[in-house]
Amino acid sequence: MTTPAADKKLESCRICKSKNLIPYFDFKEMPLANRNLSLPELSSGEPKFPLQLLFCKDCGLSQLSMVVSAQFLYEEYPYRSSISQTFQKHCKEIVENLTHKLALKPNSLIVEIASNDGCLLSKFIQAGFQAIGVEPSRVIADEATAKGLPTLCRFWGKSTALQIQREFGTPQLIIGTNVLAHVDNLNAFLDAVNTALAADGYFVFEVPYMVNYIETLEFDTTYHEHLSYFLLSPLKHILESAGFRIIDVEKLNIHCGSIRVIACKKDAAPVASKNVDAFLAMEKSQGFLKEDIYLGFVSRIERLREDLRKLLSSLKQGSKRIAAYGASAKGNVLLNYCGINQETIDYIIDDTPLKQNKFQSGTHIPIVDKSYLVKARPDYLLILARNFSEEIISKTSEYQQAGGHYIIPLPDIKVIESPYGS
Ligand code: TYD
Repeated sequence: MTTPAADKKLESCRICKSKNLIPYFDFKEMPLANRNLSLPELSSGEPKFPLQLLFCKDCGLSQLSMVVSAQFLYEEYPYRSSISQTFQKHCKEIVENLTHKLALKPNSLIVEIASNDGCLLSKFIQAGFQAIGVEPSRVIADEATAKGLPTLCRFWGKSTALQIQREFGTPQLIIGTNVLAHVDNLNAFLDAVNTALAADGYFVFEVPYMVNYIETLEFDTTYHEHLSYFLLSPLKHILESAGFRIIDVEKLNIHCGSIRVIACKKDAAPVASKNVDAFLAMEKSQGFLKEDIYLGFVSRIERLREDLRKLLSSLKQGSKRIAAYGASAKGNVLLNYCGINQETIDYIIDDTPLKQNKFQSGTHIPIVDKSYLVKARPDYLLILARNFSEEIISKTSEYQQAGGHYIIPLPDIKVIESPYGS
């Protein structure tokens, strides 16, 4: 593991440049949520960085107070989108929805930013489009290319936009699911989208929605990769300043509540749907543009932390064995923030081969494959990839039939006792 290049303290709002930034949630020092450790790394120490949320009083953007270098964060990125059937289905829905809504013509060029292992890319290609992925992690880009999914291994920016134009043509659609929150320089990112996109093209992106974050207590999605936490209002501000217009927005269930935003160039023909003004009005009328809602959020999280710790410690006192499922970044934040470690959780199962036989950063809980569910059967399985609870419960039905129980930690702690006894 290399040591991080310079980390940057945020001086002003990433979107509106205001200095009116109110700190509201401080995790103190936290390890990197997606950086699992090998056995030798356990003893060599691991980097930790401040993790603190700020609210911009002027545009409503929540953002981290510090930016860890992207090079360092993404050099060994273990996340693979294709692992989840739920996400596979979601990608299929994206292709069907956008083909229809944007009247995409066969053979249109589509560019996906941060295409990961090509889950969405493959669905566009199957539907008859020409699709190119852009993915900064070398290992992941190579995996996608090996599957026959054309992928440029690059960070998104002006020179990538120009390379696409030179080598492939002008994209009719540029899409990014879960990438905008990772971007420090949003102006440069959007400027590159504007450079590459056809005059009558669309820029579509999905981001976790801050309204869901607050309402359903998604503090576990706060980690160093997620620099921004979006409402539609600050997005409108930055998109307009980059020469775009929002023409549609809709809520999605994926990743515990996201929004899909469709934008076009500012002088293009499409008329905005009524949803756009409705979202903007709701954010204002329900107080999401004022700091009070954010300050109140913190006491709810502290209460949840106490309740979860109490539940797990009472199970341990009753000699119950507890394991977890999904070595997700969310799970990392939850366990590290709650101070839950190996004394409580025996191991974490994850189906991603790259994560197995490693240790979760911070807590140092071992990450193992699914066979451990039989080899070392726990009494309780804490579902850390809580956004995929249904999928995980259905794929572990044998465990449940053998009397295994589940705990879903958020938004409210939910214990699902096995109907087959224990
Ligand atoms: P996810 O919640 O998608 O994201 P994040 O890391 O951003 O919080 O992570 C889900 C994790 O759970 C990922 O490591 C893959 C794992 N997982 C499985 O191992 N098996 C499964 O069936 C599913 C749905 C997820």
